[in-house]
Amino acid sequence: MNLPGFPVVRPRRLRTSPALRRLVAENSLNVSQLVLPLFARSGKKLRRPVAAMPGVFQLSPDEILREATTAHALGVSAVLLFGIPDKKDEKASGAYAKNGIVQQVVRLLKQELPSLLVITDVCLCEYMSHGHCGIVHGGKILNDPSLKLLARTAASHAEAGADIVAPSDMMDGRVRAIRAELDNEGFFNTPIMSYAAKFASAFYGPFREVAESAPSFGDRRSYQMDAANGNEALREVALDVQEGADMVMVKPGIAYLDIVHRVKKEFGLPTAVYAVSGEHAMIKAAAANGWIDERAVTLESLLAMRRAGADILITYAAMDVAKWLKTS
Ligand code: PBG
Repeated sequence: MNLPGFPVVRPRRLRTSPALRRLVAENSLNVSQLVLPLFARSGKKLRRPVAAMPGVFQLSPDEILREATTAHALGVSAVLLFGIPDKKDEKASGAYAKNGIVQQVVRLLKQELPSLLVITDVCLCEYMSHGHCGIVHGGKILNDPSLKLLARTAASHAEAGADIVAPSDMMDGRVRAIRAELDNEGFFNTPIMSYAAKFASAFYGPFREVAESAPSFGDRRSYQMDAANGNEALREVALDVQEGADMVMVKPGIAYLDIVHRVKKEFGLPTAVYAVSGEHAMIKAAAANGWIDERAVTLESLLAMRRAGADILITYAAMDVAKWLKTS
């Protein structure tokens, strides 16, 4: 571009009033982009707070319904469900139990709030006694035997009425296995939102307390991606797209915006970003100390994700954001 310079050009001209700034804004936040993660466990009237995540609770199904009803009324598009089972074992039985906690909640939500989209996180870690995302043998996390369990889990969510299934385990080939099982069971219209570029991240710390899913030995570095790698993220996304992913996700958010940008540019698919627990906790903690403005920092972070190329924003702040957008 060959622009004339100062004093003919004065970029500040377009920043002189709020109306003008709005008129020329390249990106915006809208409540329809928001997805709210929710954590379900059995019980009644249960709202168990989590120390590292103010405002986030483990909720019994009746409380999930209450939370989802409020979110829906605020215009939030979807909830993303995680389950904490009563019992964990070595084959994640709770993940694909016909009447598992997620399956129960999906049925309840689809019955009571049919127009709210219900997305289910498909993973085994919350249901495994060892907290890993796949079957463990001899201290190793096995890939191929885990695929069957993941596919079964996704199909059982679809059977309960889930609108979208979202595999987050990072086993190779899981999207193909899930697509095949869904199609085989007649759920050929159930989309897959794949956590395609999911990094082994220290930002997941608080989540593991909420979901009770911390690995009991080792870490997730043999299946989740290395934070050093950007090109590999594109290969991961390409594979998932090839295997049938309808939407892709990058996770975490704020520290991985280069990946979001490259993924959106290369594939042009509906792209979700997960502003994960650690990101949320940092904002909450600093705001509680009076060091930052919670509203301004949250909105600015999400807008940065949009600018990077995100279409869908998964955030624990979804309800606050929905309220703030009404008054901004
Ligand atoms: C399950 C899963 C995790 C998150 C989403 N799905 C945790 C992990 O991989 O250890 C993290 C979400 C967050 O930190 O908010 N595999």
